[in-house]
Amino acid sequence: MEIEKTKTKNRKPIPEDRGLGFGQYTTDHMFLMDYTPERGWHRPRIVPYCNLSLDPAAMIFHYNQEVFEGLKAYSLQDTDIGLFRPEMNLDRLNQSAKRMVMPTVPQAYFLQALKELISIDRGWVPTTAGTSLYIRPTMIATEAALGVRPSRSYLFYIILSPVGAYYPQGFNPTRIFVSDTYIRAVRGGAGEAKTSGNYGPTLYVSKEATANGYAQVLWLDGKENKYVEEVGTSNIFFYLNNELVTPPLNGTILPGITRDSVLRLAREWGLPVSERRISIEEVVQGIEDGSLQEVFASGTAAVISPVGQIGYKGTDHRVADGRTGDLAERFYEEITGIQYGHKPDPFGWRRLLSELVSERKR
Ligand code: COI
Repeated sequence: MEIEKTKTKNRKPIPEDRGLGFGQYTTDHMFLMDYTPERGWHRPRIVPYCNLSLDPAAMIFHYNQEVFEGLKAYSLQDTDIGLFRPEMNLDRLNQSAKRMVMPTVPQAYFLQALKELISIDRGWVPTTAGTSLYIRPTMIATEAALGVRPSRSYLFYIILSPVGAYYPQGFNPTRIFVSDTYIRAVRGGAGEAKTSGNYGPTLYVSKEATANGYAQVLWLDGKENKYVEEVGTSNIFFYLNNELVTPPLNGTILPGITRDSVLRLAREWGLPVSERRISIEEVVQGIEDGSLQEVFASGTAAVISPVGQIGYKGTDHRVADGRTGDLAERFYEEITGIQYGHKPDPFGWRRLLSELVSERKR
């Protein structure tokens, strides 16, 4: 794939690492390519970051034919830039795309696009501990037509955003709110696809949660309103009776890459691990009898985020002493250590930007 490149003449000021927050800034360039059934993926290009021009009837605006991903690039101690399991993000993007009747993106295209885009904007990769360059690959339906059917044309693009911690509280315990009224996904729906339609409807609930001082909503299953599913932006883990428990991937929750990494590490460390259904009553019971030792969420944006309190049916339940637990800390240190290149990478998860395969080499 030959990527056409147009460099910006107006470089934006690069924000200081301090106060980056999450997703407030975008870099100087973006990657785009188009899809039609006749031509497949074509016109791969890197251009100055700009608005998109779309027909108001473009199908993305009406029927939510959209998928996206989130991954990060890390400034390593040497001069290289690291990525964390980017192939997993592409696999998930393609799984989501299939669910939304959209075309898949070939791995070689994806990796080459990442490599060339991040290289052009490498000055934007922040270097302070805990910061990174968040990468948002996105695919949208572009055909202008109002019938409810799959679009015939698509745009795939990648934008970049230098970020700090997802939560303002950083790596400190959060309060999460359990919704026993609203649900995020049901079996047979599209809960496991990373598509905007899974996020928009959650805003109503998270607005109320945020107004009451909670960082996130913890969703329960859509059938019985009983079993824990996920936090809207991350997966959830319970350390209960010396066992690490997380809800299984049953089609309603997002198959997190950090989730998978936590499970792999836990098994490697010899921790008892169980992917099983866990009810909110079991969680509250565990808090009351002291058998619930820790709760933490895992995600690309949130990394590992300890949960200090769980609000359920009008009561705030404090998890253990409400502080960051040792296990959450250990996962955080290990995963960020691998990501930032100051720990060994026994599973081969880290990719170096300089060594990302490009199609030309194949
Ligand atoms: C991520 O962790 O990358 C996410 O996509 C979560 C959220 C920011 C949408």
